[in-house]
Amino acid sequence: YFMQKIIIALDGHSSCGKSTTAKRVASQLGYAFIDTGAMYRAVSLYFHEHHIALTNPHEVDEALKKIQITFHFNELKGKSDTYLNGLNVEDEIRKMYISDLVSEVSAITTVRKAMVAQQQKMGKHKGIVMDGRDIGTKVFPEAEVKVFMTADSVIRAERRQKELLEKGELIDLDEILDNLKKRDVMDSTREEGPLRQAEDAILMDTSFMTLEEQVDFVINLHDKKLAGK
Ligand code: DC
Repeated sequence: YFMQKIIIALDGHSSCGKSTTAKRVASQLGYAFIDTGAMYRAVSLYFHEHHIALTNPHEVDEALKKIQITFHFNELKGKSDTYLNGLNVEDEIRKMYISDLVSEVSAITTVRKAMVAQQQKMGKHKGIVMDGRDIGTKVFPEAEVKVFMTADSVIRAERRQKELLEKGELIDLDEILDNLKKRDVMDSTREEGPLRQAEDAILMDTSFMTLEEQVDFVINLHDKKLAGK
């Protein structure tokens, strides 16, 4: 039978559970999941490895032409890994030195234009959950469901610390908190596609919510939308 499919845009601050929630929602609905932060991280990794001068527009544009980002499902992990020019970079792009670089890279207009164009292509057939900063405002302003996620910054830093620790990186809480706050400011104040809540986005503060509650919240909005409510 015919099932209508829509676009779910999940935007918000760094480390408030956007990707984890988006991933679960997508798998429950049988939708595709795209982590757009991973795309900006992969670009940052490429720029880092090739010593691209971020202030040199020509160098940046030439580099962008050589970057191909794809996602491939990892059966073992039951989730998608990020690939940069055919290489699995999933673990590398989550490291702290990339988090320190990514806000600067993602503020570059030509970088955003290239990523947004790719993201719009990926969502062409709908049935997608996309998480990022500008999905509801810029990438898919017409998305049927928009959620803006936030959480207390100390709680976000603690969650991020735990995540990094699970991957073997022990980092001081203050350093993580500092990185989160800096990224929030840079992400919200940049010229192109700044982080902001779309007018028609629903706010979800995840400080005291479990993952299950977050997932249910979004699925509920999705189901209501399909029911025409
Ligand atoms: O979601 P994340 O923390 O992995 O994202 C990494 C960085 O990428 C974040 O600091 C801002 C940037 N970003 C962006 O500018 N636009 C998006 N749609 C997604 C991420």
